[in-house]
Amino acid sequence: MRIGFIGAGKVGTNLGRYFCSKDFPIVGYYSRNYENAVAASRQTNSRAFTDLKECIEACDWLFITAPDDQIAAVWSEAEPFVSVEQFIFHCSGAKSSLVFATDKGVSCFSLHPLAAFANKEMSLTQLADTAFTLEGTKNVEQVEQALVRLGNLIAVIASEEKVLYHAACVFASNLVVGLSATAEELFVASGLPNEFAKKAWRQLFSQNIQNLLIMSPSDALTGPVERNDLSTVSDHLAALPPESVEIYRELTKKLLQIAAEKHPERDYRPMERKLDQ
Ligand SMILES: NC(=O)c1ccc[n+]([C@@H]2O[C@H](COP(=O)([O-])OP(=O)(O)OC[C@H]3O[C@@H](n4cnc5c(N)ncnc54)[C@H](OP(=O)(O)O)[C@@H]3O)[C@@H](O)[C@H]2O)c1
Repeated sequence: MRIGFIGAGKVGTNLGRYFCSKDFPIVGYYSRNYENAVAASRQTNSRAFTDLKECIEACDWLFITAPDDQIAAVWSEAEPFVSVEQFIFHCSGAKSSLVFATDKGVSCFSLHPLAAFANKEMSLTQLADTAFTLEGTKNVEQVEQALVRLGNLIAVIASEEKVLYHAACVFASNLVVGLSATAEELFVASGLPNEFAKKAWRQLFSQNIQNLLIMSPSDALTGPVERNDLSTVSDHLAALPPESVEIYRELTKKLLQIAAEKHPERDYRPMERKLDQ
């Protein structure tokens, strides 16, 4: 199975490097900017193509690793050169394989790595720890079997569930970035020096993540909500600026649900009422 990529960006380059490290044969890259295709091909012992058709015809599995909004446009350029026995992939979390509109009977998939690819040099160890979801219209089992050799955690997901699934990924990653930035701003607002504000939360954050990696959210939960410290939560609500108070309120409702299940003997109703005010 020969693999080719259209789009030598972060995901295309990292996936190619990873597949290559696992002895999956990489044919090469076609990209909008040829020099990016050259850079990715050098890292994967493969070719940089100047001709889209040539790239497509050289592979069995074709990955379109362009930004989500470009996938359909790239596909409309590529589709005339694709043949029925080829497998076509994109790597979007939110979009399904149905973005590949075709009446050729080609097998189309989305293979989403649950990782934040900030650059093209992600370590192979990180890639080995990355889970994937696979979705497709046909031959899904065949692809799943072929990917077993990678050794990564892989699950199959239904096309219609992709958006909800991707929202879950956003909760576990991007929204955490938003929460960390909010914490930093609130440290500054509470009069602490910028340098302190940038660093102080890191240990707290890291301890929490370490706990969450080995425990359930229920076991990892600490703080005023779990302790049922109503006055502390009320004071927070009163002190927070309007742009943070709604985030705090909604997430605290979630914590309250976890706390109530963890400690059925505690009466959290006054806190619940406070949060609903
Ligand atoms: N980054 C992440 O953390 C992450 C995680 C999981 C999944 N994904 C998914 O992976 C896919 C790619 O994301 P990315 O982060 O790798 O984006 P990226 O770094 O911006 O790379 C996109 C690549 O697509 C190429 N491209 C754009 N339009 C093209 C066209 N018309 N023809 C040929 N190539 C074209 C660009 O080419 P040039 O560079 O040559 O201009 C670029 O190399 C997206 O579907 C995204 O949702 C991303």
